[in-house]
Amino acid sequence: MRKLSTRRRHPLAGFVVLLMGLVVAGGMYAAFAPKPATAEEASSQQVEAGRKLFLIGCASCHGKNAEGIQTKRDGNYGPTLVGVGAAAVDFQVGTGRMPMAASGPQAPRKTPEYTEEETAELAAFIASLAPGPAIPEDEYLDYKSVTADGLREGGEFFRTNCTACHNSVGAGGALPSGRYAPSLKGVDAKHIYEAMTTGPQQMPVFADTTITPEEKKNVIAYIKKLQTQPEYGGLAGGGHGPVVDGLFTWVIGIGGLVGFAIWIGAHGARVRKKA
Ligand code: HEC
Ligand code: HEC
Repeated sequence: MRKLSTRRRHPLAGFVVLLMGLVVAGGMYAAFAPKPATAEEASSQQVEAGRKLFLIGCASCHGKNAEGIQTKRDGNYGPTLVGVGAAAVDFQVGTGRMPMAASGPQAPRKTPEYTEEETAELAAFIASLAPGPAIPEDEYLDYKSVTADGLREGGEFFRTNCTACHNSVGAGGALPSGRYAPSLKGVDAKHIYEAMTTGPQQMPVFADTTITPEEKKNVIAYIKKLQTQPEYGGLAGGGHGPVVDGLFTWVIGIGGLVGFAIWIGAHGARVRKKA
C-alpha cells in the first residue's frame, strides 16, 4: 500500500489513471452498447464464395474490391459498396435491382437473378469489407404479431415519414429527373425493413439507432394492413390514393353532371315547344 501511495506522485501517474479509466469505459461500452438487429455471423467459406460471385457479376461496375468505378465525367458506373452492409446487398439483389441490366436513372425491380444462397454469399462478402446495416432477424419481420396499438403507431410513422414519396396508400409516385418511388404493394417484409435501414437512392435512411427494430415492425404491419383492408367504398378505383380519387370524382362525376345538364337543356319542355 505504501508503495502505491508513493508512486501516486510519479509524473506519469495521472496518465496511467486516465488510461485505466479509458479502458474501463471502453469495456463497459462494449458490454452494454445496444446491439443492432444482426443475423448470424457469416462463415469464411460464405465470404469466399461471395467474393467469387462478385468478381463475375458485379465487379465490372463496382470494382474488384467494391471500391466503385468512376466514369471520366465524374459519374459512376457503380458506387463503392464498402460499408453499405449486408442489408443493402440483400435488398438490391433480392429485389432483382442488381445486377443492373442497363444504365438509367434508376435500377428497376425485376425477377432476382441469384438464388437465396448466392444472395447471402454476396451479402457476406460485402459485409466482410466494412461494417454496415445487417440483414434483420426474423423476430423483427413477424409483423402479424403486432398489436392494435403498434399498428396505430406504425400508421402514424408511415403517414409522417413515407407518404411524401410513396403516397398515402403506398401506391408510389414520381420523383424529379425520371425517378420514382415504387409501389409498396406485395413487397417482402424483409425488403421493407432493409429499404428503411439502407435508404436506396433518394430514400432517407431510417437507422436502427433512431427508429428501433420494433418500430420498424409496426410500420411493416401498417403497410401490410393497407394492402389487405377491404374497400369499404365499394369501387376501389385502383387504390391510388386521394389525388386519383379526387380526379376521378372531378372528371367523371362533375363531368357527368355537366353532360346531364346539357342534355336537359337540349331536351327540356321549352325546347320541345319551340320545335
Ligand atoms: C451495370 C452496372 C452494375 C452492375 C453489373 C451491378 N451494379 Fe450495383 N449498382 C450500380 C449502380 C449504377 C448503382 C447506383 C444506382 C442505384 O442505386 O440504383 C448500384 C447500386 C448498388 C447497391 C446500393 C448501394 C448503396 O449505396 O446502397 C448495391 C448494394 C449494389 N449495387 C450491389 C450490386 C451487386 C451485389 C451486384 C452483382 C450481383 C451489382 N451491384 C451489379 C451498377 C451496377
Ligand atoms: C424522399 C422520398 C422517399 C421517402 C420519404 C421514402 N422513400 Fe421508400 N423509396 C424511395 C425511392 C426513390 C425508392 C426506390 C429506390 C430504388 O429503386 O433504388 C424507394 C424504395 C422503397 C422500398 C422498396 C420497394 C420495392 O419495390 O422493392 C420500400 C419497401 C420503401 N421504399 C419503403 C419506405 C418506407 C417504409 C418509408 C418511410 C419510413 C419510405 N420508403 C420513405 C423514396 C422514398
